[in-house]
Amino acid sequence: MYSRVVGTGSYLPPRRVTNQQLADELAARGIETSDEWIVARTGIQARHFAAPEQTSSDMAVEAARRALEMAKLDANDIDLIIVATSTPDFVFPSTACLVQSKLGIKNGGAAFDIQAVCSGFAYALATADNFIRSGAHRNALVIGAEVFSRILDFNDRTTCVLFGDGAGAIVLSASETPGVLSSALHADGSYANILCVPGNVHGGEIAGQAFLYMDGQAVFKLAVKVLEKVAHEALDKAGLASSDIDWLIPHQANLRIMSSTARKLGLPDEKMVVTVDQHGNTSAASIPLALDVAVRDGRIQPGHHVMIEGVGGGFTWGAVLFQM
Ligand code: UT7
Repeated sequence: MYSRVVGTGSYLPPRRVTNQQLADELAARGIETSDEWIVARTGIQARHFAAPEQTSSDMAVEAARRALEMAKLDANDIDLIIVATSTPDFVFPSTACLVQSKLGIKNGGAAFDIQAVCSGFAYALATADNFIRSGAHRNALVIGAEVFSRILDFNDRTTCVLFGDGAGAIVLSASETPGVLSSALHADGSYANILCVPGNVHGGEIAGQAFLYMDGQAVFKLAVKVLEKVAHEALDKAGLASSDIDWLIPHQANLRIMSSTARKLGLPDEKMVVTVDQHGNTSAASIPLALDVAVRDGRIQPGHHVMIEGVGGGFTWGAVLFQM
C-alpha cells in the first residue's frame, strides 16, 4: 500500500503588497528598507497579507476545497486532516478540527495540527503517508496554512520584509501504485533560540514575546548545510539519484538558499519551483503553495519525481520524495 497525491489546491489572500509598497509603509514608521535590498538578499518581490478577520483555518478551507475538486472527492471522503501551522486560529481546538467543521465533514475522522514551523508541511506529509500506508486511513487532507503577518514586528526590518500569508493543500489517497517513495525528518532543539516566537498565554496575558525573532545568518548557514544532507538521505532511501528528480520544491524562504541547494544537488535552476518571489516566506504553506502552482501551470506531470524540502524553527528539517 502506498499514498499518492491526487489533488492540490492553494489560496492567497487578495491583499498583495510589493516591496516598494512595504518600504513606503515602513518609511512612515521611520524604518528604512528598499526593494533593491529585499530582492538582492532574498529574491522576494511581493507577498500577500490576510485581511484582519481572516484566519489560518479560513485560508486552509479555501485551499482544501480546490484540492478536493481536483481529486474529484467529496469532503466526507476525507478521514484524516493534518494542518501544519505555527499561526493557528486558537491555542485549541486545533486548526484541523476547525477545517473539518468548516468543510462540513461529519464522519468523525482524525484531525490534528503539526507544529514544525517552516518544515511543517514535510512533517505533515510524511505523517499522513505513514498513517495511510498503515491502512488506518484512506484519504487525507494535508495542509499548510499561515498568517505570519500576525507575528511580525513591523518595527524590525530584518524580519518583517520576509514573510507572507497563505495556504496550500493536497489530497493524499491510498493507492496500489507509488506515491510517496521516501521521507526523512530531523530536529535539533538545541537551536530553538535562533528562530522563535518565545511567548505563551499566561494568566490571561502574553508572557514573553509575541513577535518572531530570527538570527538570519545562523538560520541561513544551518539551512544550507542540512538541506543538502536530507535530500541525499531521502534519495538513498528511495534508491534514486539526484538526476532522477524532475522537480525540486524547497521551502520558499530565500532564493539564495534555494539555488545553493539545487546547485549542490547538481540540479539546474530550471528544475526548481520558485514562488518566493511572489509569495515571500509563507512558512508551512510555502511548499504546498508552490506545488499547486507548478501542477496547475502544467510543469509537474503524472509520473514526475518531486522532492520537497522543509527547514525552519525548532530547529527542524525534512525531505519527502514522491511520484505524481
Ligand atoms: O523560514 C525559515 C527559514 N528562514 C530562512 O531560511 C532565512 C535565513 N536567513 C536569510 O534569509 C538571510 O540571513 C536574511 C535575508 C534574513 C538576511 O540576509 P543577510 O545577507 O544575512 O543580511 P544580514 O543579516 O547580514 O544584514 C546585512 C545588512 C545589515 O546591515 P550592516 O550591519 O551590514 O550595516 C542589516 O542591518 O543589511 C541590513 N538589513 C537591511 N537593510 C535594508 C537587514 N534587514 C534589512 C532590510 N532593509 N530589510
